[in-house]
Amino acid sequence: MARQNIAAGNWKMNTTVSEGKDLYKALSNHSVPEDVTVIVGVPFLHIGTLLSIKHASIKIAAQNCHFKNSGAYTGETSPSMLADIGVDYVILGHSERREYFHEDNAMLAQKLDAALENKLKVIFCCGEPLEIRKQGTQNAYVSKQLEEGLFHLTADQLKDVVIAYEPIWAIGTGETASPEQAQDMHAHIRSILTNKYGNDAAQDMSILYGGSVKPGNAKEIFGKEDVDGGLVGGASLKADSFGAIIDSF
Ligand code: 13P
Repeated sequence: MARQNIAAGNWKMNTTVSEGKDLYKALSNHSVPEDVTVIVGVPFLHIGTLLSIKHASIKIAAQNCHFKNSGAYTGETSPSMLADIGVDYVILGHSERREYFHEDNAMLAQKLDAALENKLKVIFCCGEPLEIRKQGTQNAYVSKQLEEGLFHLTADQLKDVVIAYEPIWAIGTGETASPEQAQDMHAHIRSILTNKYGNDAAQDMSILYGGSVKPGNAKEIFGKEDVDGGLVGGASLKADSFGAIIDSF
């Protein structure tokens, strides 16, 4: 994928299926500029229903998948199941998955491989907790997440990946990273991509910012040189606020 403007919503564990259906329909009525890709990351249970009313302008992502295609893993959903029904993307490595479900970089590397083998595109999340930000070691922390989780991929595989930088201290807290803090980290991520994969691959990567993105701050954040859009939690749960974020590019 060439670098794109992306507005991605992460519904997390919110909305019933019928509420999700109404939200998806309302979003489908929003006109999406040609140079913007819109994605919604929805609960597994919603996916079948939303695919049955799928609109070309709103792509569908799962919020997780397993690293095997089948087997004795009670309660899990595999990447081949998602690919088979026509899911476009999967979000991997969200900080909530890392924290509450103990997903580490090694496991995420396996999930990434399994998703890509099944031709799913991946939104790969990284980001530091508050204590790391206070110490000022966030660049090294995020580098390690990417080196261990992502950098085993070939440059060709990397084309199906979008990176989302989500500082944990800004998620659901109302405290947004400043546009400059986002730009600094995004530039850092692009520089380590350049070192590993070369300038063309780094320039082609879409890097999203996540953490309290709202209609009131999206324009300024998305306006930064290395910020290609957002991964939006709370503000993606209402069609009017997510619509306003789509319009901020
Ligand atoms: P909020 O936009 O609610 O802070 O959530 C961000 C996020 O975690 C998106 O994945």
